[in-house]
Amino acid sequence: MTQASAFPQRDILVTSALPYANGPVHLGHLLEYIQTDIWVRYQKLRGHNCFYVCADDAHGTAIMLRAEREGISSEALIERIKSEHQQDFAGFHIRFDNYYSTHSEENRYFSEYIYRQLQDNNHIATRKITQAYDPEKNMFLADRFIKGTCPKCKSEDQYGDNCEVCGATYTPAELINPRSAVSGATPVEKESEHYFFRLPEFADFLQSWTRSGTLQPQVANKLAEWLDAGLQEWDISRDAPYFGFEIPDAPGKYFYVWLDAPIGYLASFKNLCDREGIEFEHFWKADSPAEVYHFIGKDIINFHALFWPSMLHSAGFRTPTAVWAHGFVTVNGKKMSKSRGTFIMARTYLDHLNPEYLRYYFAAKLTGSVDDMDLNLEDFALRVNSDLVGKVVNIASRSAGFITKRFNGELGSVTETATLQTFVDAGEEIADFYESREFGRAMRRIMELADIANQYVNDQQPWVIARQEGQEAELQAICTNAINMFRLLMTYLSPVLPETALASEAFLGATLDWNHRDQRLENHPINPFKPLMNRVDMSQIDKMLDASKEEMPAASGAAPAANIEPIADEISFDEFARVDLRVAEIVKAEYVEGADKLLRLTLNIGAGERNVFAGIRSAYTPDQLKGRMTVMVGNLKPRKMKFGLSEGMILAAGPGGKDIFILSPDSGATPGMRVM
Ligand code: MSP
Ligand code: ZN
Repeated sequence: MTQASAFPQRDILVTSALPYANGPVHLGHLLEYIQTDIWVRYQKLRGHNCFYVCADDAHGTAIMLRAEREGISSEALIERIKSEHQQDFAGFHIRFDNYYSTHSEENRYFSEYIYRQLQDNNHIATRKITQAYDPEKNMFLADRFIKGTCPKCKSEDQYGDNCEVCGATYTPAELINPRSAVSGATPVEKESEHYFFRLPEFADFLQSWTRSGTLQPQVANKLAEWLDAGLQEWDISRDAPYFGFEIPDAPGKYFYVWLDAPIGYLASFKNLCDREGIEFEHFWKADSPAEVYHFIGKDIINFHALFWPSMLHSAGFRTPTAVWAHGFVTVNGKKMSKSRGTFIMARTYLDHLNPEYLRYYFAAKLTGSVDDMDLNLEDFALRVNSDLVGKVVNIASRSAGFITKRFNGELGSVTETATLQTFVDAGEEIADFYESREFGRAMRRIMELADIANQYVNDQQPWVIARQEGQEAELQAICTNAINMFRLLMTYLSPVLPETALASEAFLGATLDWNHRDQRLENHPINPFKPLMNRVDMSQIDKMLDASKEEMPAASGAAPAANIEPIADEISFDEFARVDLRVAEIVKAEYVEGADKLLRLTLNIGAGERNVFAGIRSAYTPDQLKGRMTVMVGNLKPRKMKFGLSEGMILAAGPGGKDIFILSPDSGATPGMRVM
């Protein structure tokens, strides 16, 4: 009998939150996509009919403004970022069944459809509100686009809702000398009509929905507090200019990005259904027997556990089976920080480390709760090395050689049946841990089994038996037992380590089949063992941190960093005049050891020499720079960098990579000349 028949096949739709299309994916985001991907891979491995969809969240003011700054259309920006996101996710083996965009026809259709349903049900209200308005840019300003002096501690340049220096919270109207972060203009107050979703109508519905096992207990308790405090109507419209979908019959009014973002789950799934002939209604009709799960971060619970189920309910769709929130990632015990190099982009990680290390580390520390998770980089290296390399892979590497050399690659029969049965039985418990997102407990149980397997090999000492005559059958049996144990360990780890699982299947010449895991590998040829995973070396981690530091705009000299989003404030002419721009001759250019992006430049500015680090290594070799003229900021306060003191900044232009252009003033320019 196989165990598969014990499981009825489930129809499961799974989503992760849709990442904003205005910046790259970092390790914090990845916790969520890795958590979801492991869960989905587990469900598929068990034979369930499971789909994993996601999309870029492409609308909103931030994206519109960024595209403007880059001098491209919003459409071009979101297309580029989407393909970057997809490459990053693929790099971490996140396997979506569909990855789409909220800026799609399907999403427009569902957004309009749901909105009209809400309207028909009298769940939409309109009223005039007064808001800050940028009279130069002709746009309304959300709080975070207003800056000014903190009314409490008088620190300058603080955002419209809170002071980063003293922690005070206030309204933009209370700021001293408020300015638009977009244009620098002084905001004025302006009235405009807004559309509201009448959330208070759903108080009773939410009281029971949030208490019906759809949420983690911690989250349900938090929501109970919010519900008791009373619900507010939700403002779902934004005025033009806005990058999004125009509201039907409301010219110049757009759906707020958070209205059409969760609808993007439907749109992405619909797009998949149309492509693959899956029945959309089966998953989304009001009484659907299918399961729908949303994995999200704890910062976006209100959108997913209040607004979204209410919208679905009003519009006649089913509500999610569950919404599962995870906590936030910290690195080495602190919030991810650009200056410490711990604000690590997916791409930077992939340049230095194997993605499965991170998948395993996250899995080993994940629980079903909303607690934050610390990525301690030393612990990370230790755990990967001791668990994966030291325990799991080791079992195969210790036994495979004998099979290949002494038995022509043929396994014999399993003799250690009781131990192997323990391994098979443990699958039930490990399955429950995966199902309930207690991945850490699953990993611990698997490592206990790995310890048993290693102990078995230690006790049997195949390397001793191998030297004794007449012990051939014994040697083959020991190795066959060990390799069967290894196969089960890899089966259990395969949702976490998909690439190593594939390599193990190639080595074993057999599949890792969870539901048929009681079938042994006997009298079966295996392939020569190749190392399945290398140890993590702390120096790789250090290189990654250095590379992350270099990505900071201030440290890179030139600022082609497309990653970072500076909202450049307007400066006055006087402020500009304080910048001492000088012609500088590059007298020496050198590589900087340990920095992939930087060059160390020695600049002659007439009155002496300056040492400057510039992030232009991708575009120039030292030889190409020697003798050229450039323009430098001569009165920039020297900055201590990891590699030495940087005494200024050179000016360059271009989008980055190979295209960074050093301005070479025409002949006639001499070092030290003032630039005006
Ligand atoms: N676009 C919205 C989600 C719309 S869903 C209909 C959004 N995007 S996001 O890019 O800011 O975040 C995507 C997901 O990553 C969110 O679930 C968020 O909680 C998660 N994380 C972002 N930073 C994180 C950490 N530092 N740690 C863990 N998760 C984090 O929100
Ligand atoms: Zn303050």
